[in-house]
Amino acid sequence: MSDPTPAGPHPNAALPAPVLTTPRVTVYHGDAVELLRLLPAGSVDALVSDPPYGLSFNGQAWDDTAGFRESLPHVDTARMGAPEVFEAWCTAWAAGALQALKPGAHVAAFGGARTWHRMVRGLENAGFEIRDQIAWLHTTGMPKSMDLAHAIDKHHGAQRADRIVQRSDHDGVLGATRSVLAKGTPVTEDAARWEGWGTALRPAFEPIIIARKPPAGSLVLNVLEHGVGGINIDGARFAQGRWPTNVALDAGQADALDVLTGSWQGESLSRKFPIFRFEPKPSATDRPRAFGVSHTTVKPLGLMRWLVTLITPVGGVVLEPFAGSGTTIEAATAAGFQVIAVEKNADYLPLIRSRLDQ
Ligand SMILES: C[S@@+](CC[C@H](N)C(=O)[O-])C[C@H]1O[C@@H](n2cnc3c(N)ncnc32)[C@H](O)[C@@H]1O
Repeated sequence: MSDPTPAGPHPNAALPAPVLTTPRVTVYHGDAVELLRLLPAGSVDALVSDPPYGLSFNGQAWDDTAGFRESLPHVDTARMGAPEVFEAWCTAWAAGALQALKPGAHVAAFGGARTWHRMVRGLENAGFEIRDQIAWLHTTGMPKSMDLAHAIDKHHGAQRADRIVQRSDHDGVLGATRSVLAKGTPVTEDAARWEGWGTALRPAFEPIIIARKPPAGSLVLNVLEHGVGGINIDGARFAQGRWPTNVALDAGQADALDVLTGSWQGESLSRKFPIFRFEPKPSATDRPRAFGVSHTTVKPLGLMRWLVTLITPVGGVVLEPFAGSGTTIEAATAAGFQVIAVEKNADYLPLIRSRLDQ
């Protein structure tokens, strides 16, 4: 693979003017691959982000290979497959982040179950060390699976008279949606043979990769000189002071664990893990709307606050290169941190503004 990191900044290259500023928050509108390398070197204490997963989620252009190629005009991606383009793109933004972070600073970045290994490679290619992986277990994912038997009937040109599909119009959140109310009866012999087969599990797990910029010298000296390098165990304790785990649950997963183990009657097993509320369509508080637009992939505020607290020194500067509706920004400012954020899609800037106005 050719080196996907953009050439160092041109000596005269400068950050554009921020589009939103408050005493604690600076938001840039632009491409993180381009902008992170322009941030002052070694100026940031932590990076917490929910980047695109490279899954073309819900048909969103920002999660698609074409968008990643756009960020890499200096790389010949023509002969690369989608996974390689995604890895090259991750390497490129991670390289910018590496220069902006202080030595020893941590990264917490969400990944998709199918593509996170490419992000990990991108982080490593850029020079980060991988420290851990937090399993975010939730109950809100929907399976994106092909009904093989129905696809075979279609392939044979056979229509199912008893199949019922409901389509809903664009609602600004998930776009146009399709629900299969009744699968119908297989028509062809081939379809009958493959009835009940699909192509995907229901997603209930998202990894959060914890990486670190290598410390300068010993960790102790690095912490004393740069103020970063460790994780805030006491700050991230939960449930009357338990040590933070590398598993976090939403309320549904917590209930399921207690019911399955029968532990809901006494000391519940789920209390051993931090639990963060998540709603299938996040609530008005978690999912701001502005000018009819909302964001499809909003993360729970409590989870983001916990992550920021875990890896950022008190009062430090958090970088969020893929701000979306601004959940990380709101979580970090509520916890007393400064934030530098980047968002490429102008449609989402009003959502960030509405969070800052709250
Ligand atoms: C997964 S979403 C983040 C959602 C966010 N966690 C929230 O709660 O609203 C990723 C965001 O990254 C933005 N994005 C994609 N490519 C980008 C790039 N190259 N530079 C900056 N932002 C980008 C997308 O527009 C999208 O809003």
